[in-house]
Amino acid sequence: MNSKNIFIVGAMGSGKSTIGKLLAKKLQRKFLDTDHEIEVNTNHDISTIFEKFGEGVFREKETEILNKLKDKENHVISTGGGIILKDENINLMKDIGTLVFLDISLETQIKRVKYRKHRPLLKNSNLEIELKKLKINRDPIYNKISDYIIEVSSKDKNTIVDEIQKKLL
Ligand code: S3P
Repeated sequence: MNSKNIFIVGAMGSGKSTIGKLLAKKLQRKFLDTDHEIEVNTNHDISTIFEKFGEGVFREKETEILNKLKDKENHVISTGGGIILKDENINLMKDIGTLVFLDISLETQIKRVKYRKHRPLLKNSNLEIELKKLKINRDPIYNKISDYIIEVSSKDKNTIVDEIQKKLL
């Protein structure tokens, strides 16, 4: 396996952070989460950034964080669901990493996703309608840009991690 970073991309509730952490442990790599990095760097939680400064500023922060990762190797990096919305972000990730898309069905996503403080996009909306809208807009992008696509809807965590590891060999 090469020393490139591994980026975990996919929709909210697809398990990016959980799987990313487990994968990092298994591969003995360091783990990073772009949402967490943004919170640490700005000293604000994601919800506050959206509320006070707007989604545009949050998206700029995502790009800033990716720029800061340029010299990293051997990391597993989980990302926020919308990081793929900017071509600049896609290029930054592809330059330094392999992209793994955790593909989740809408049905499973609805069961799993709860509004949490880092998910302001779901705060004032009908969960199913919003998730469906995001899925229609974003799944084609995840599918197009990713090196590996892993179906995660009906699998347990360890099976998913094993599957990713096999693909990366
Ligand atoms: C977002 C997903 C969130 C977080 C922010 C925006 C999105 O991360 O980055 O609320 O646009 O889908 P998760 O995918 O980890 O929930």
